[in-house]
Amino acid sequence: AEKGYKAWLQYNEITDESLKAEYSSYFASLSVTEDSPILNAAVEELTLAANAMLGKDMTIYNYFTDDATIILGTYQTIDVEEYGLSADEVKNLNDEGYVIKSVNQADTKKLVLVGKTDKGVLYAAFQLLRFMQTSNSIDGLHHVEQPKNQFRMMNQWDNMDGSIERGYSGNSIFYDENGFTGDLTRIKDYARLLSSVGINAISINNVNVWEVETNLITSKFLPEVQQIADIFRAYGVQTFLSINFASPIQIGGLATADPLDAGVQKWWAEKVEEIYKYIPDFGGFVVKADSEHRPGPFFYDRDHADGANMLAEALAPFNGVVFWRCFVYNCLQDWRDRSTDRARAAFDHFKPLDGKFLDNVVLQIKNGPMDFQVREPISPLIGSMEKTNQVMEFQVAQEYTGQQKDLCFLVPQWKEYLKFDTHAKGEGTTVDSIVNGSVYDFKYSGITAVSNIGNDANWTGNTLAQANLFGYGRLIWNPDATSEDIADDWVRLTFGDDKNVVETVKGMLLDSWHIYENYNAPLGVGWMINQHHHYGPNIDGYEYDVWGTYHFSDRDGMGVDRTMETGTGYTEQYFSPNKEIYNSLETCPDELLLFFHHVPYTYELKSGKTVIQHIYDTHFLGFEQVEGLITRWNSLEGKMDDYRFNNVKERLHMQLKNAREWRDQINTYFYRKSGVPDAKNRTIY
Ligand code: GCU
Repeated sequence: AEKGYKAWLQYNEITDESLKAEYSSYFASLSVTEDSPILNAAVEELTLAANAMLGKDMTIYNYFTDDATIILGTYQTIDVEEYGLSADEVKNLNDEGYVIKSVNQADTKKLVLVGKTDKGVLYAAFQLLRFMQTSNSIDGLHHVEQPKNQFRMMNQWDNMDGSIERGYSGNSIFYDENGFTGDLTRIKDYARLLSSVGINAISINNVNVWEVETNLITSKFLPEVQQIADIFRAYGVQTFLSINFASPIQIGGLATADPLDAGVQKWWAEKVEEIYKYIPDFGGFVVKADSEHRPGPFFYDRDHADGANMLAEALAPFNGVVFWRCFVYNCLQDWRDRSTDRARAAFDHFKPLDGKFLDNVVLQIKNGPMDFQVREPISPLIGSMEKTNQVMEFQVAQEYTGQQKDLCFLVPQWKEYLKFDTHAKGEGTTVDSIVNGSVYDFKYSGITAVSNIGNDANWTGNTLAQANLFGYGRLIWNPDATSEDIADDWVRLTFGDDKNVVETVKGMLLDSWHIYENYNAPLGVGWMINQHHHYGPNIDGYEYDVWGTYHFSDRDGMGVDRTMETGTGYTEQYFSPNKEIYNSLETCPDELLLFFHHVPYTYELKSGKTVIQHIYDTHFLGFEQVEGLITRWNSLEGKMDDYRFNNVKERLHMQLKNAREWRDQINTYFYRKSGVPDAKNRTIY
């Protein structure tokens, strides 16, 4: 289990003699003249790795000496020109950027790790170790990097009773029995994992803030929140809390939480001041308000800007930020009501408020208009508000994509979202250029995501789901990185360099999203899942319910008409030409057809197949592909430790059962509805 726990920070002994000699010559001693928790963390990581990988005990000098082989620090203290770097090269980087350079001075080899700030140094250390763990020579290295997104955040959905909302990897590492676990070592190791892939912010409790958690912002719990924040700070990760909008009532003894009430405003101002006494660099609040029965400004006839601004004003003196979630929709819809469309909700609620939010409010928008389905179009709200800070929200937890039983490597999906052209400011206004703040010059921007870890020995339930956590961090650091490179790195770091293992696991990861999509709800229509827990098929599970997630299948056809002429008009929310592309049957891409259109089963897709035949074919195929995953994985027996091998094997068998159920229920359901037989005459029940 230890190998599962170490995830991609294995620091395996280097067995290649020449590489070992090369690395060892650099890892004799280290000089660092600055003192900060972050720099200490960098030194600690390098020391640990040198020990494990090379059996070297580095001498650490806290003064400058020419004897040192590794020179580490910020550009203010290192004489970078001495090592053939220009001062500008580092100075012009953003605050988290760094340079790693190896030099050969008078026959001694030296490595310089220089950051714009101490955070850059830490990221440099992790990158250097990645080079070594993936067997790259570091002679002649000159590596310059800086992150492309400002906020690279993680949202824990952990509750204080120890459970995790949508958690598939055991219980919380933070909380237990309405208190803290006190397992600071585990939290530190989580901080290391996050920091190693560049995550720089975390909210440590569920967006649904229940009774006990409401007290996290009180003196009852703040000392322990402070301890956690201290740990994360040393890894360059800023701590946030999710708050309950009704806190002034629940813990403040006030009669109202009305954002325009002076008493409420004063209460929050004092509350925020108190929090900053414990955590001077506290990040701010994440807020789920007026969403799925959570309290919010609507209750007082105020709007979201009133609510968010009230909190923003309290946080502003301390440079704190409010992440205000846009997951706001009618979750008590009458299924008979065909005019309400959940997909429209975020845009309809927030777009009219553009310009009304203070500049330390950030709108947090889910990647799609619904809820992290295997396939959705991009949320049309992204890029539509020129005057309002935005971050995009992903879900690393696989709520609707197999729950870390089924394999689903999400980096290729996220990559498609990031590279989607919104046309907000003409051609080339990709999502990544909006969320990195460059299109509208947002003060705050970036990406956030729901975490997928818990206290399982391997953090993520399925060991291969570690790749999503790793990939999330690496991709949002640099959205231009390819899915292939990210997967390749992850496999090498996690399982080592064996060519067979690398190619097999990489292939499995890269195929897995499409495989999952093949046996799931077809052509972008989404849902069709069991209620509440959201695993496994239940085609009409939500069809006559209140959640606004319908597929409208009848004997003739299926899909949701979201066109401007005959449907809900949702397509109107996109910029041209996307609005026309999605609105028209002729141009709507196959994979999203049923998200935007209601069509007959016999409708012919661009692929040349009918919708019904596509359903049959993909569902038979998806199941076979899962059988294929099992064969591929089994070929690796003996090539890794039993713990990780068996862990994945076991999950793949659960996936096979799931895929079989999806295949047979979907095929049977649509065969019975349509009466159209499978052209290939396979077994349908
Ligand atoms: C989904 C999920 C909920 C979660 C919600 C949210 O609907 O099923 O558990 O609370 O998203 O993002 O707020």
